[in-house]
Amino acid sequence: MWAAGIVGWLLLLLLPVAQVAGARPCIPKDFGHGSLVCVCNATYCDTLDPLVLPAPGSYVKYESSKAGKRLERSEGKFQSSLRTPGLLLTLNISTLYQHVKGFGGSLSDAAAMNILKLSQPAQDNLLRSYFSESGIEYNLIRVPMACSDFSVRPYSYDDVPNDYELKHFRLVDEDVKMKIPLLRRALAMSKRPLLLFGSPWTAPAWMKSNGDVRGKGTLKGKAGDKYHKTWANYFIKFLDEYAKHNVTFWAVTAQNEPLAGLFTPPQAPTIAFTAAQQRDFIAQDLGPALARSPHRTRLLMLDDQRIHLPHWAKVVLGNATAARYVAGLAVHWYLDAIVPPGCSLEATHDLFPDHFLLYTEACTGFFMFRFAVSLGCWERGDHYSYSILTVMNHFVSGWTDWNLVLDLEGGPNWVKNFVDSPVIVDGSKDVFYKQPMFYHLGHFSKFIPEGSRRVGLRSRRRCLLCQLEHVAVLRPDGALVLVVLNRFGRDVPFGIQDPAMGFIETVAPAHSIQTYLWRQQ
Ligand SMILES: *[C@@H]1O[C@H](CO)[C@@H](O)[C@H](O)[C@H]1NC(C)=O
Ligand SMILES: *[C@@H]1O[C@H](CO)[C@@H](O)[C@H](O)[C@H]1NC(C)=O
Ligand SMILES: *[C@@H]1O[C@H](CO)[C@@H](O)[C@H](O)[C@H]1NC(C)=O
Ligand SMILES: *[C@@H]1O[C@H](CO)[C@@H](O)[C@H](O)[C@H]1NC(C)=O
Repeated sequence: MWAAGIVGWLLLLLLPVAQVAGARPCIPKDFGHGSLVCVCNATYCDTLDPLVLPAPGSYVKYESSKAGKRLERSEGKFQSSLRTPGLLLTLNISTLYQHVKGFGGSLSDAAAMNILKLSQPAQDNLLRSYFSESGIEYNLIRVPMACSDFSVRPYSYDDVPNDYELKHFRLVDEDVKMKIPLLRRALAMSKRPLLLFGSPWTAPAWMKSNGDVRGKGTLKGKAGDKYHKTWANYFIKFLDEYAKHNVTFWAVTAQNEPLAGLFTPPQAPTIAFTAAQQRDFIAQDLGPALARSPHRTRLLMLDDQRIHLPHWAKVVLGNATAARYVAGLAVHWYLDAIVPPGCSLEATHDLFPDHFLLYTEACTGFFMFRFAVSLGCWERGDHYSYSILTVMNHFVSGWTDWNLVLDLEGGPNWVKNFVDSPVIVDGSKDVFYKQPMFYHLGHFSKFIPEGSRRVGLRSRRRCLLCQLEHVAVLRPDGALVLVVLNRFGRDVPFGIQDPAMGFIETVAPAHSIQTYLWRQQ
């Protein structure tokens, strides 16, 4: 009895400690696509501890690899010297570049429906994985305004013809019963402020040249007329209605993929704009409507592929009135392979340094008629982090994934435009799978909060095959972060130099991503 009592006491004393150091490991599952997914259900999900930085002189490293590590934490110490490495990365925190807005994903109708297919405790595990301190702490959420193709039906918020006063504007069940409750749960579990931004795919049929929410049309009429005024007021109504549920938006984009049609089936909902039409709509209608409204919501232009830069920036921001209303440029990643970042992103930054660049959509598995979802594919995660590293090194301030969650088919999507997602739900088993893409994004989102700044990083290479991708940032709390990606199948030994602290001698294993963090004082 007495002995049992003592053990009980000891257990009670240990319990809080066990909860603090509560990181739970990944339960791996191999679907035969090259690497693993981590399996979560109602009672179990892998977690991370809140970030704790070690004392100056030590650093912390998080590592994920094709071989099976998932954000594994370890610590090490700076050294005063280094044997000459093949590759040395030297930070220079006197060279400061763009501020970071953050990282995140999109709460499409499809994402919301997939989350809500799970039991409540499994939903909580999923939301915590993305938004809480025991997860990867996303701070950006894109929210489609009414339907996108990732919905189960086409709709707008006002399908009553010629309702120029928007008297019949109504949020739908997808908002009120699905997206808003989920947003409020995400907001409640996030330690960081969440930046929400809305994007419309389509206007009501009666405002569009093709008379249908489905397919591609333009807005009827021209900037300054009743169609354009009504369409601008529709944005304000959307913000008003969400505000009634205490959900406020940091920004809206003027239009999802105004040049669309290239990647989506012809049925997909869209409004087409030329750059000049977007300029005029912003200068005459949307900009003034937002400025007059009680909302302090920012406006992002483009929201389309970088092949249109810097041309669109020149046309829209070249107009001083439009430029005053626009805070930044939203960019999608689908044509990045054929458009170098220098002549698109950096050229835009050089012309308009006061307007930030933000990636607002990316996914893998598009145009893959059979393999939209490829459970455990490492290369798809690698594709994400390679993009993030590349665009951050060309003045981009953040990166937003497309659907937060999809099903095993890569949907639902009412035009069958199925794609992959970092989290895939199997509702029939009440489980979800966290893919390599999830952890690749986590290597940035968890460690690089809003307000961080990219800093100078010089790479000195003395070996042919030791190529790594990297970015260094200074956090608002003064800590330094270095993310290093090895895309290739051999280990790469390398050194890190922070002139204020000394050297780190380390290795980037084959097919791995690492995040290093340390404090200078
Ligand atoms: C949930 O996952 C854990 C860990 O893999 C497992 O032990 C448990 O049986 C699972 N629960 C259900 C209901 O499948
Ligand atoms: C670090 O950056 C500053 C500011 O850009 C520059 O003046 C200085 O020469 C750099 N130091 C090194 C060692 O490159
Ligand atoms: C919104 O917040 C206010 C003030 O905190 C509160 O009184 C109100 O009930 C909230 N509304 C909803 C719909 O949650
Ligand atoms: C900007 O565009 C608006 C129309 O959209 C036009 O009235 C105005 O003259 C333009 N301003 C400049 C400076 O080009």
